[in-house]
Amino acid sequence: MHAKIVRLAGDGVGPEVMAEATRVLDAVAALWGHEFEFEDLLIGGTALDAWGVPMRDEDVEVCARADALMLGAVGGPKWDGVEQMLRPERGLLKLRKSLRLYANLRPVTVLPALYDASPLKPKLLEGVDVMVVRELTGGLYFGRPSRQWKEYRGRAAVDTLIYREHEIRRIVRLAFEIARGRRKFVTSVDKANVLQSSRLWRSVVDSVAAEFPDVNYQHALVDSMAMHLVTKPAAFDVVVTENMFGDILTDEASVLAGSIGLLPSASLGPVRRGRSLPLGLYEPIHGSAPDIAGQGKANPAGTILSAAMMLRLSLGLDEEAAAVEKAVHDTIAQGCRTADLAPAGAPATTQEMGEAIAAGIARS
Ligand code: IPM
Ligand code: MG
Repeated sequence: MHAKIVRLAGDGVGPEVMAEATRVLDAVAALWGHEFEFEDLLIGGTALDAWGVPMRDEDVEVCARADALMLGAVGGPKWDGVEQMLRPERGLLKLRKSLRLYANLRPVTVLPALYDASPLKPKLLEGVDVMVVRELTGGLYFGRPSRQWKEYRGRAAVDTLIYREHEIRRIVRLAFEIARGRRKFVTSVDKANVLQSSRLWRSVVDSVAAEFPDVNYQHALVDSMAMHLVTKPAAFDVVVTENMFGDILTDEASVLAGSIGLLPSASLGPVRRGRSLPLGLYEPIHGSAPDIAGQGKANPAGTILSAAMMLRLSLGLDEEAAAVEKAVHDTIAQGCRTADLAPAGAPATTQEMGEAIAAGIARS
């Protein structure tokens, strides 16, 4: 197949991990006879330095026409003093919102070879296989008003947590559909004992659940969920939640996998006219890690596994996606690991790990 993929490497370690994901995609293309055409665009602090904005409108247009989008990471201390609306993160938020990428899928699995990399007891990690479905274009991230002002007694600020019923319904439906293809168990996370938006969320979940009688579900409060995610992580299958809770819980969940550098994500929008698969933005859940940028220390696995999600979800290449995932798992099991996963001994560099994964790709 021929596919046009936009690469947004971004800031910090972004370009390094993107280079390794590209290496792996090149290996896939060679083996299966595909043609992946890459176009590079700037996002985040790098775009701000070059263009004066963290994401240009014309570049969003290019993204909207692509078959799939890959992102490295955005942000860094260099841009800490920048005004709120020009911050590097704004570029990513603009892309998510403009392309209506409302569904953020963050799978969390634990490789037995990495039980020792997690601070949790191996017994707790057995059988962990969670799919977090995070709402990505609503809630506190985008609600208005969102501003600061001065009052007589000092400064004040407000952010708005707003959800509309249709926004909740589409993400919750997707979570139940995903659960149907898995262990058929949805946990919906909210704070319904305090928040109005959560009470609405809960009632929409109940009504969607009635459409899926074959799927079991439960409600959980976000505070107790934060505890249960590390005390009984194997008890969860699909977890669906609003934007900010999902942001926080997925960083927490990465502790299960052994390193935040391992976790991939897909941000999906609606299916576009004339196509059968949704546009997606594929990115690792880790940040730009400015402290290790340019040193070959970053773990490329999260980005490479994101590329696998892209092959499956936006390009429909299931066999190729499975081959990439297997190559990542085998490489780690064989002991080729970056510093985040290899506290003792000589760690592999970003490039060495990428090369080992690319070399391990094989047709089944
Ligand atoms: C994430 C990140 C982003 C978010 C930031 C960079 C805006 O933390 O993708 O989890 O908060 O959504
Ligand atoms: Mg986050």
